[in-house]
Amino acid sequence: MHERTLAIIKPDAVSSRHSGEILRRIEESELRLIAVKMITLSGDDAGGFYAVHKERPFFRELVNFMSSGPIVVCVLEGENSILRWRGLMGPTNSEDAPKGTIRGDLGIDIERNAVHGSDAPGTAKLEIDYFFNATEICAPVEALP
Ligand code: CMP
Repeated sequence: MHERTLAIIKPDAVSSRHSGEILRRIEESELRLIAVKMITLSGDDAGGFYAVHKERPFFRELVNFMSSGPIVVCVLEGENSILRWRGLMGPTNSEDAPKGTIRGDLGIDIERNAVHGSDAPGTAKLEIDYFFNATEICAPVEALP
């Protein structure tokens, strides 16, 4: 299915200067980068984004971490982009993620796991709309001849 997904480069990866490496992996994949911006979330912004986790014991820590420094938010488009991006990211816990995946190569643990990706088409739409308005999302650009 041709679809969009939200990708976030988290504060640990931005502060470690891994943003470029992560964007390179995206651009070398089948995924097309159609929106990107660097922002710093307030606690309320981060809490709103992760509202589905608000009853979890790790919620407060997660919100503190996600608002601790700049992040890079991206919209990716392509065939099965949700699953493709999840494949590039690897499993949630960087301690268990295989080498070759972004979380395995660049993440530290379950919280400082370098990147986020939407888990289903419904959440992808909600998450993209949380950060981007329509004018900030571009049509995919083909290589110049
Ligand atoms: P993410 O894909 O951004 O979605 C929710 C995040 O919660 C997840 O990545 C993890 O970074 C974080 N998370 C999940 N479980 C835990 C946990 N047990 N302790 C701390 N953070 C967690």
